[in-house]
Amino acid sequence: MEHQSELQRRRTFGIVSHPDAGKTTLTEKLLLFGGAIQTAGAVKSNKIRKHATSDFMDIERQRGISVATSVMSFPYRDLQINILDTPGHKDFAEDTYRTLTAVDSAIVVIDVAKGVEEQTERLVEVCRMRKTPIIVFINKLDREGKDAFDLLDEIEIKLGLHCTPLSWPVGMGQSFRGVYSLYEGKFIHFRPHGKQEGEDVVAVEDLRDERFSQLIGQRAHESFLHDIETVTAVYPKFSAQEYLNGKLSPVFYGSAVNNFGVRELLDCFVEIAPGPLPRETEERWVRPEEDAMTGFVFKIHANMDPRHRDRIAFFRVCSGIFRRNTNYHHVRLDRQLRFANPTAFMAAKKEIVDEAYPGDVVGLFDTGNFKIGDGLTEGESLHFKGIPRFSPEIFRYVNNADPSKFKQFAKGLDQLMDEGVAQLFVREDNQRKIIGVVGALQFDVIQYRLEHEYGAACSYETVHLHKACWVSSQDPQQLQEFMLRRKKDLARDKDGRLVFLAESAWTMKLAQENFPKVQFHTSSELA
Ligand code: G4P
Repeated sequence: MEHQSELQRRRTFGIVSHPDAGKTTLTEKLLLFGGAIQTAGAVKSNKIRKHATSDFMDIERQRGISVATSVMSFPYRDLQINILDTPGHKDFAEDTYRTLTAVDSAIVVIDVAKGVEEQTERLVEVCRMRKTPIIVFINKLDREGKDAFDLLDEIEIKLGLHCTPLSWPVGMGQSFRGVYSLYEGKFIHFRPHGKQEGEDVVAVEDLRDERFSQLIGQRAHESFLHDIETVTAVYPKFSAQEYLNGKLSPVFYGSAVNNFGVRELLDCFVEIAPGPLPRETEERWVRPEEDAMTGFVFKIHANMDPRHRDRIAFFRVCSGIFRRNTNYHHVRLDRQLRFANPTAFMAAKKEIVDEAYPGDVVGLFDTGNFKIGDGLTEGESLHFKGIPRFSPEIFRYVNNADPSKFKQFAKGLDQLMDEGVAQLFVREDNQRKIIGVVGALQFDVIQYRLEHEYGAACSYETVHLHKACWVSSQDPQQLQEFMLRRKKDLARDKDGRLVFLAESAWTMKLAQENFPKVQFHTSSELA
């Protein structure tokens, strides 16, 4: 029974945004509400600084610290809330994609002045692929920004999200008066230069109420009434079911730094957000209510101390109860493993846990047994689906620069790839190794870590490639012909899957035209 009641209390979600939209600030305010941190700034100081693109040592240093904030848990009302941190930095985008496989819902933060930005588009696409329920928070209303209706249009067009506002701003920037909560029928008054709790809440039963008009000013009131009329006419009524199906996203307006509109967001979140959802495996769907423990690794983090090669595998519990010092079946290795020190991550402190429930994430110390996507069970052979690998966009040949250290080089490369730092492709024709990454910074990270953690040296050489796509086909004959004709453009990924290395968009197009029965996938999960 404990299992059932605990799992019902879990809400596990991720906050995604383009860097600078206010994700860290919002996270911090949510943690303050939950009492998980006492002071503002606690999360902020741990964050990977966004301007550090050229200084990757700084990122390396901070990478260590950021483990502590990878998962932040706090109680709110009678729920246990887990926020999984998603790096906004573009060069860590893959990390974010994978983290999104471990959440049950997401909050998307958008800067009112900048609107929908590139990184947000890509991240929301991942959520959409997985039908993750999404709540949108439009932030920085204390500044001048885009018109509220234009923003909703942008969300629909650029993010492909069907949305409906649950709060509505009155004014903006200098003339920002507050937000009206359509969800709760109340007005939250914004006091400029207010303190932390700079909000006054007024229940508004009748929107035409004279007192309400006086509160926000007659002109603002008139335009507000006009807006609400349009909102009611144009946008669908909110339906929790549609939201849960990933088909309708409620939109909130506020200002995270002023702690404004955040409580309304959180209160609505706890009402509507889903608890632990079933997870798909190649064999069957796993429901969180099942007694047997199952779960998967979605992220691996290397130890920052080069003398200890231990890593932390982030493990999402999908069903049953995960228990300390209990034997579990590592499906890929077909081995029994037990964990003496599984850790929970609280903001700023780690602690050992005895039990974890569906929706929870535990950190497992790992000496090289795990790779991303690995599952643990109580014996059943289950392979979790939905942990995507994306087609990288930047490529280089990688060479072993010190022949006497070949073993170290091979092992280091192997483990870094398991961690998901980058992807390795081996050319079919000459067996040369190509590394593909999403952000160029990863090349420096690999070189540095090979040297400092494995005592190996690598060098890079340019290779001109447009894309690496995983290949599949229902037509063995055409696939055979394709493989024969394009042999020089083929490679294998780390799991031996066939990959087409397209030199240009043109070669890609040509291959698709000449081999219509061969499918080219930009994410390996589909292959
Ligand atoms: P991120 O994690 O999405 O990258 O964004 P972060 O929270 O770090 O916020 C980016 C900047 O936007 C910060 O300013 C932060 O203070 C500011 N910000 C967040 N919410 C609001 C808001 O509601 N209104 C306004 N006006 N600003 C907001 P910074 O100057 O980069 O950092 P700091 O020196 O203020 O800490």
